[in-house]
Amino acid sequence: MEDNMIAYIWAQDARGTIGKNGTLPWHLPDDLKFFKDQTRDQIVVMGRKTFTGMGERPLPKRVNVVLTRQANFTAPAGVHVLHDKAAVLAFGAAHPEQHLMIIGGAEIYRLFADVVDTLYVTRLAGTFAGDTQMAALPWADFTRTTARTVVNADPALTHTFETWQRK
Ligand SMILES: NC(=O)c1ccc[n+]([C@@H]2O[C@H](COP(=O)([O-])OP(=O)(O)OC[C@H]3O[C@@H](n4cnc5c(N)ncnc54)[C@H](OP(=O)(O)O)[C@@H]3O)[C@@H](O)[C@H]2O)c1
Repeated sequence: MEDNMIAYIWAQDARGTIGKNGTLPWHLPDDLKFFKDQTRDQIVVMGRKTFTGMGERPLPKRVNVVLTRQANFTAPAGVHVLHDKAAVLAFGAAHPEQHLMIIGGAEIYRLFADVVDTLYVTRLAGTFAGDTQMAALPWADFTRTTARTVVNADPALTHTFETWQRK
């Protein structure tokens, strides 16, 4: 049986900032569309803080998995609440036809860095105020396979969509 593709998808500014006050530091509809297209019908795995930042509502048309250490954490029907990395990988193995799309935040990007095989990073040209930095990744183990830059009227929002694959 094939293993799941395990992918990270995130957007970061020029300094690696990814979050502010539980949500995103910018509003970039083009990147939200890219995120929707890449994650549609797949399994999205997120940390509880990212889930809380989204109003604790599941993303429609996706299988939602939330990671928390709180044994009594309750989420709306349809959200799968899991409590450790092994449980997430087992959940993926039980649904091998779907991709495991790790959608953050920083704690969750740290957690799966040894098993992720594909990286989708949107790099914003500007710098933004924030409180959450992207996790360090073993970049030397990856090679960039695609890059597409989209110029925005606001230069800070000009962004490049990159795909990286584990070598
Ligand atoms: N720019 C982007 O692409 C992007 C993407 C995603 C998120 N973000 C931003 O990132 C920020 C949130 O990131 P964050 O690092 O603070 O939080 P996070 O990774 O979203 O969530 C952290 C929480 O996940 C749970 N958790 C972490 N490790 C775990 C483990 N090993 N086992 C079980 N549960 C575990 C814990 O939940 P409990 O506390 O409930 O135990 C922990 O508090 C927000 O601002 C969000 O908007 C940005």
